[in-house]
Amino acid sequence: MLKEKLEEVRGRAVAAIREAQTSQSLYDVKVQFLGKQGQFSALMKEMGKLTPEERPVFGQLANEAKNTIEQAYLEREQALKTAELGAKLVEEALDLTLPGPTMPPLGAQHPIALVIDEIIAILSRLGYSVRTGPLIEQDRYNFEALNIPKDHPARDMQDTFYVDERHVLRTHTSPIQAHVLETERPPLRIIGVGPVFRCDSDVSHSPNFHQIEGMYVDTKVSMADLKGTITYFVKEFFGKSLKTRFRPSFFPFTEPSAEVDCQCPLCAGKGCAMCKQSGWVEIGGSGLINPNVLRHAGVEYPRWQGFAFGFGIERMGIIKYGIEHIGLYNQNDVRFLRQFSI
Ligand code: PHE
Repeated sequence: MLKEKLEEVRGRAVAAIREAQTSQSLYDVKVQFLGKQGQFSALMKEMGKLTPEERPVFGQLANEAKNTIEQAYLEREQALKTAELGAKLVEEALDLTLPGPTMPPLGAQHPIALVIDEIIAILSRLGYSVRTGPLIEQDRYNFEALNIPKDHPARDMQDTFYVDERHVLRTHTSPIQAHVLETERPPLRIIGVGPVFRCDSDVSHSPNFHQIEGMYVDTKVSMADLKGTITYFVKEFFGKSLKTRFRPSFFPFTEPSAEVDCQCPLCAGKGCAMCKQSGWVEIGGSGLINPNVLRHAGVEYPRWQGFAFGFGIERMGIIKYGIEHIGLYNQNDVRFLRQFSI
């Protein structure tokens, strides 16, 4: 009987729907029963065999059966969707307590910049402020204004790179002094800093290196002021317990002039390879500004007097950090540079 078959198909369809475990298999069940080629459609085709009286009765039963199946389908579909969404949320859950992406690796400051910044910090506490000047310098600022006339033997102290007849790659930062004396009014406390160039190269010399220079101009300036300033500076930069010593020397732009030594910071003056067992390392030159330099810039002497000092940056780093070879500064080897990260 068609009616029994209908009941049987409805029963199997509803059971299959309730057993479907995924949206996909549920859909397959739907096709299997309600699709064009499905079991339910097959039954409907058999309706032709019924008498005209039986047909509307069966038609109504078939509609009810179809509604039951569709209702079961919708319920199951909803339940599966909810379950699948829940599973997906669990599977794709974000652990918001995990640390975020780490910071990109930070570079270290280059030791040259580190030394420059530290020296500037120390001297600024004494009221000094920074000036810079051109790297290609007029001969007259690199030499003449600093009391080194043409053909003066002192020019040989600095192996000069000439750009043309009248221009050189500055051989020291002292021309910054000459510019400042010309353009600013005393009293002055300035730092001149930057790259300098000399035709010279070995373990402790590089053709381009850096200097930092201090100039103090005021009334009544003496060697005692110079020594006090440099001694303070050395203690701040290399270590409080280290002594400073001054040896007579010669620079055309200072008179008197003195070479500055400091007790070797690596062995605290006991003697080591850095200081060649002497306990002392040379850090730079200094002196009272030669009156000729002041007069050349139009600064009235003796009303205004001054002192100046100049240090090699690479050398300061070599001594402070025990760097073995000046070439290390320029090799960009991160194993070297990393040691200066703070
Ligand atoms: N300019 C000198 C040099 O390059 C250093 C120096 C600076 C000396 C200031 C005395 C005063 O060697």
